[in-house]
Amino acid sequence: MKFFIDTANVEEIRQVHEWGLLSGVTTNPSLVAKSGRVFEEVLQEILSIVDGPVSAEVLSRESHGMIEEGEKLASLSDNVTIKVPMTIEGLKAVHHFAKNGIQTNVTLIFSANQALMAARAGATFVSPFIGRLDDISQNGIELIQEVAEIFHVHDIATEIIAASIRHPVHVTQAALHGAHIATLPYKVLEQMVRHPLTDQGIEKFEADWQRAKQS
Ligand code: E4P
Repeated sequence: MKFFIDTANVEEIRQVHEWGLLSGVTTNPSLVAKSGRVFEEVLQEILSIVDGPVSAEVLSRESHGMIEEGEKLASLSDNVTIKVPMTIEGLKAVHHFAKNGIQTNVTLIFSANQALMAARAGATFVSPFIGRLDDISQNGIELIQEVAEIFHVHDIATEIIAASIRHPVHVTQAALHGAHIATLPYKVLEQMVRHPLTDQGIEKFEADWQRAKQS
């Protein structure tokens, strides 16, 4: 499973890029609003850091508007992936983008049927939202498992991005259940690096080393 970062904060992207494990970026309108910056400027900066897919979301509700917005965004770079909501209009736009060689990420996926339809319309990626399902007492990881199984059985090349991830256990579970990618907030990526025994081990090695040097 690969790692994307789910943020519009360029500093966070820059930092995680240096860790050497970052394969892409996802943004959404809420994350861009939180950054307090102009979307196109943020996007250009992200594109100057990351070579992998960078998801930029359209805001129109109808396919013509989505296509217009998406084509403008896609013209910025080959690695811009157009993030389209899972609606009938979204499917029409995804189909158009697929025919024109533009990558798409169908977002706000909450059922296996939605994922299958998005894939058949030509989506490059689908994003099942784990955390938001858990929030309403449904099992988000079960959705990842169902989608992974369906895509495997039917030999579908669309990649599954486990999205709306809240904590490190979600990441392990998503990897075990067949997600190709997990898109993670910076905080979760940082939490995943840490383990108290690693910190204690470093302290002990250092203390033993110093003691040996003194004796
Ligand atoms: C994915 O692409 C979305 O941007 C994101 O994972 C949504 O997560 P949230 O439910 O924490 O807002």
